[in-house]
Order: sequence, then structure tokens, then C-alpha cells
Amino acid sequence: MARTRDAHVCSACGASAPRWAGRCGSCGEWNTLAPTRAPCPAGTDRPVPIDQVDGADASSVPTGIGEWDRVLGGGLPSSGLLLLAGEPGIGKSTLALQVAASAARGADILYACAEESPAQVRRRAERLGALPSRLLLSAPRDMAELAAQVAQTSPALVIVDSVQSLADPGEAASGSASQVRACAAGLAPLARREGRTVLLVGHVTKEGAVAGPRTLEHLVDAVLLFEGECKGERGGPTRVLRALKNRFGSTEEIGLFRMEEDGLHTVDDPSALFRSRRGEGAPGSALTVAMEGRRPLLVEIQALTSPARLSHPERRASGIDPGRLPLLLAVLERHAGLPVTGLDCFVNVVGGLRLAERSCDLAVAVAIASAYLGVPHPSDAVVLGEVGLTGEVLPVPSLPRRLQEASRLGCPRGTVPSQDGAQARAGYTGVARLAAALRPLLPEIPTIPGADGAGRLRETG
Ligand code: TYD
Ligand code: MG
Repeated sequence: MARTRDAHVCSACGASAPRWAGRCGSCGEWNTLAPTRAPCPAGTDRPVPIDQVDGADASSVPTGIGEWDRVLGGGLPSSGLLLLAGEPGIGKSTLALQVAASAARGADILYACAEESPAQVRRRAERLGALPSRLLLSAPRDMAELAAQVAQTSPALVIVDSVQSLADPGEAASGSASQVRACAAGLAPLARREGRTVLLVGHVTKEGAVAGPRTLEHLVDAVLLFEGECKGERGGPTRVLRALKNRFGSTEEIGLFRMEEDGLHTVDDPSALFRSRRGEGAPGSALTVAMEGRRPLLVEIQALTSPARLSHPERRASGIDPGRLPLLLAVLERHAGLPVTGLDCFVNVVGGLRLAERSCDLAVAVAIASAYLGVPHPSDAVVLGEVGLTGEVLPVPSLPRRLQEASRLGCPRGTVPSQDGAQARAGYTGVARLAAALRPLLPEIPTIPGADGAGRLRETG
């Protein structure tokens, strides 16, 4: 709030003072100075009581692209500033265009082509089979021209592709952090004051922390990250949309797409994506069920161990927290008698999913044990549980939903934490300790090289 010189007035004599004091300097009375309400400068919005604020502009309109709507908490918010970030070539423009085409069925949409020409965007739209007449293309030279185009067409949704390519007259280097910030700050009033949605498309590099879009996180209402398979290796068609920040809904949900010849398709049965067509009898693999938001996904975890080539064993983890890998190796050695801490060890989550939860610990440990022992884990069994430092298996949330999904996909048995009372569940074995979870690997191997003195798997559970 702007400071005014007469911010305090004496209730006894009416004299004004620039700041509060215990005694009025004019009449000498004590405790009579009180702050005054300065009139709002012209053009300033008056503060409004909370119950009189119009809540309608917080609503969302479904786009019909189910996975997009799921991530955003219902659809396109009717006003707000969104950032769609991802590596170059991952499919941001394709997704933005598909969202624009869907939204253009019911409203005017302005797609500002700052990077490609409108002709290129038209050709892409043809490829996607959508040329709605309410989707307007423009090629603004700078921020000012874009603002004029928005004023002229009054669209419900403005897409800026990309924010790095939109020039800001005040800033020199296009693509610099300050240019990107200046553009976003300039566009924010279009979204917030004028009650429309502005979607900024921004490139990030493989590391994700670029001078650029990530510096916008605090400015925007939602940050959507569009990722490809195995983060960085865009070998496969799977794309994952996740919200890093979301003022319109949760940040838990992910959206799953497949990039095809005719654009992005939503994935209807995602569990099939994260499971390789496993040859029966391949060691080093275990199935688990991850919760992504409210959705259970059957996921395959693969591991490989080999004698260390260097003095320090190499450890690589893709799709799980890399910090868990050394810990799980140490627990496997200490509490299950598998001498794996000196080995090179690689762990991968099939399909490029990143698992944030510890519920997949036990499956990672079982996959490593299976790789080390050269014994396959049953391909119709899931493994669920968090592993503690003392080798105990801890419960996982939403167990019934996970097991339901596993059954649906042909895995009606497996290993689960015994604390969940799942022992009683037909087909599932409840275990309290890591060593017990390795039993399905044992029938084929009577002894384990390097296990405790007796050459047997040490059962501490
Ligand atoms: P694009 O949306 O241009 O990526 P970004 O805006 O993130 O840089 O998409 C780039 C890739 O997607 C490109 O290599 C071609 C591929 N693609 C398809 O496979 N199918 C399609 O229908 C489209 C439009 C693109
Ligand atoms: Mg693009």
C-alpha cells in the first residue's frame, strides 16, 4: 500500500502525523493517534469482503482430453496463468494445439506462434485433423503486439508458443531468464485481471533447471511438465504430463499419452505401458503396483548386478530415488545375506515412470536379489512394501486398491507387508522381513553363494 504523509490522525484535535506516536505532537493528548484509511488512487480495485468475491472464475471447463483434464483437476481453468514445460521435441506444441483445438469448439482461442510460422502450425493442425474456425493463429513480433491482438479478439484462452521466443521490447537477449520472466509478468495481468486463461509453452533442458521456465514457477498458477520415456531418451512414444505446481487441483495426478503419427492419444489402460513383454524365466525383474494420484499402475522394476569393474561399485537408478539404491543393497546384504554391496548394480523402471513412493522398495530389493541369484521371480506375482533399515517390511497405503489392479491384470498373488493383515488375502503372502520376501526365489536354488556361514539365506524374520 502506498504510504501517505498523513497516515495517522489525532482523535482529539484532528491533527495529522506522518507516523504513529504515543502522544499527539499538536494537542499533547496520549494514545489518540490512529491510522487513517487513505483513499484508493483512481484505477485501483477496492478490497472486497471475502464472501462477496466472485468465486465463479475459479471453475474449470473440461477439454475432453481426459488425461489433461485429470492433471489440471477437471479441465481448463476459466482464468489463470499456466506453464507447459518440457524438453524441445517432446510434444508440447502438439499437446497445446490439441488442447486449443478442443477448447475452440466452445470459445475463441488465440494461438500465438512465436517460434514456428502460422503455416507450420496449420500443417500440424491438419495432421491432427483439427482446423476449427474459432482457433485463431497469430505471429506477434513482441509482447505489445500480442497484448493488442488479445484486446482485439478477446479470446478465452491465449497460448504463447514459446515464451522464450516472444520478444519483450525492454529486454535484449531472447530466451534469457530475464526475458522469460518479463514476458510472463507482462502476460499475468491478461490472465488475472481480464479473466482468461494464458498457457505459456516453455522449453527446459534435460536437467530441467534452466534459465527460463523454471524461474517462472512462482509467477504462474500451474506448472505442467511434459516428459518423455526414460527422461531424456525419447525412444518410446510414452509421454507423461505431471503438475509440479497446481492451484487448480492436486499435484499427485499424472496424465499419460502416446505420441502417434496423428498426434497425442490418451492412454486408456496405462498399466500395460509399464510392463515389458517379459520372457518367462528372465531373472532381475519384479512387478509392483505404484499409486500415481488415485490411480494404481502395475509397474515392472528391472535390475542387473555384475562384478564391479572399478574400485567403487557403480550404481545407477532410473525411475526410483537414486538414494534408495545403496540403502536397499546394504539391507539386502546385512539382513538377507546377499553380498551385493560390492557389485555394480543398475535399476530401471520400465516405461520411464518415476516412482516417488517407498512402497516399491521391496520390489526393487526382490528384483536385485533375482538378478544376483539368477532366479526369475514369478511373472504373475506382485511385490509391495517399504523396506526399513533393520530389514523389516513396512505397510503401504491403499493396499486393497493396488491388489485389485494387480488381479485385474493377471497377477492374483504376490508378497505384501504382513502388518496389513493381508496374509488372510487369498493368494498373497504377508511378510514382516525382507528375507522372507525372497522365498519365491528360493525353491530353485538350495544354497546361495556368499550367504551366511551355512551357505543359506539368513532368515532374520
Ligand atoms: P512438438 O510438439 O513440435 O514438440 P515441442 O513443441 O515440445 O518441441 O513435437 C515434436 C515431435 O513430435 C516431432 O519429432 C514430431 C513428433 N510428432 C508426432 O510424432 N506426431 C504428430 O502428430 C506430431 C504433430 C508430432
Ligand atoms: Mg514446439
